[in-house]
Amino acid sequence: MNNEYFMADIFERLIKNYGPIGQHRERAHGYFAFPKLEGEVGSKMKFRGQEMIVWSLNNYLGLANHPEVRKADADASAQYGLALPMGARMMSGNSDLHEQLERELAEFVHKEDSILMNYGYQGIMSAIDAICGRHDVVVYDAECHACIIDALRMIPGHRFVFKHNDVEDCEKQLLRAQALVDKQQSGGVLVITEGVFGMAGDQGRLKEIAALKKKVPFRLLVDDAHGFGTLGKTGAGAGEEQGCQDEIDLYFSTFAKSMASIGAFMAGPRTIIDYIRYNIRSQIFAKSLPMPYVVGNLKRLELLRSKPELKDNLWKNALALQNGLKEKGFDIGKTDSVVTPIYMKGGVEEATAMVMDIRENYKIFCSIVVYPVIPKGHIIYRLIPTALHTQEEIDLTLKAFSETKAKLDAGAYKVAEIPDMANK
Ligand SMILES: Cc1ncc(COP(=O)(O)O)c(C=O)c1O
Repeated sequence: MNNEYFMADIFERLIKNYGPIGQHRERAHGYFAFPKLEGEVGSKMKFRGQEMIVWSLNNYLGLANHPEVRKADADASAQYGLALPMGARMMSGNSDLHEQLERELAEFVHKEDSILMNYGYQGIMSAIDAICGRHDVVVYDAECHACIIDALRMIPGHRFVFKHNDVEDCEKQLLRAQALVDKQQSGGVLVITEGVFGMAGDQGRLKEIAALKKKVPFRLLVDDAHGFGTLGKTGAGAGEEQGCQDEIDLYFSTFAKSMASIGAFMAGPRTIIDYIRYNIRSQIFAKSLPMPYVVGNLKRLELLRSKPELKDNLWKNALALQNGLKEKGFDIGKTDSVVTPIYMKGGVEEATAMVMDIRENYKIFCSIVVYPVIPKGHIIYRLIPTALHTQEEIDLTLKAFSETKAKLDAGAYKVAEIPDMANK
């Protein structure tokens, strides 16, 4: 060892502090964090050997286990395996089916063209990186998903954040951005927001934000992960729902929610999608989406188009759940999508004791969000209804929530520490 060097071992720092959730891992692993849901994907699955009603899966339309989807996935896997196509799209990994899926996705969201991405997270990051030059300025919603925030850490230009869904503040930040562009005499402005914010379930105010184009020129990029397939007359998402799809310059969605699959796409004008196609580093320097995913996603998209009853069932269940919760006096905030948050008050330890009760005694599996993700003293349950849930499951859930909320208010879950439920 050379004693002249300052010695700080990175690994030593990491194991001193495992982070906001990691710090609880010794009691939480395998139960509150990294739980294993087993069996066929559906409204009921097994958790630690017990069958539970599940409200945690973004399997909005119930496609994960749809017989036609399962057959398409299996047939494509048998026909192509996971290797094909080999290489990146640009070099040797292109196929007619990849291009067909891109054409069909573009048509579905009423855009000229689209580009496939292997994952939503890295795809949108890389697309934003490809689009934004040194002098471009990004204006974005404060509650944008981590993948957008991470993209903004990569780009070289300035960015201005506006208060969540606050159109007035968005205009203020747009004016700042425009002033900077004027000063630089170079660059343009890109606004980034979401179709549906996945935590609170509120739709981005796309129509009002798009209307600001009349005051300040900008391009609009919308991440519609939770709106694609669930909103709009044809399922084309939040823009279609709000009557402003044409004002969205770049439309993005992952396949991880309504499509119950893997992959993502960005759609927009042909010229711009072509630019992205030739400049998006995460796709140029990575292997192409395997054929079974492409074929499986074509089948899913066909079902989105041909089975509107899936979306109707999803909404029937979402409204039954949301109205039932409201009738019972729960605060479900401002959701205007199927995402159903329930806001409660309590500490982290109480929240975990309540989750344990609801799993062990009511056989209901759902996710909670606590400090430090949200302010201290607050608990958010996040329920994701699907087309597959039944009225009986909704009724049992409403009853369980009423009873556990009464116990929470009576202080029955006050425990000194997080219950030790880790895998041993
Ligand atoms: C809003 C939003 N954008 C992007 C992503 C990332 O997509 P993927 O899971 O395909 O990486 C997610 C989560 O899946 C999301 O909720």
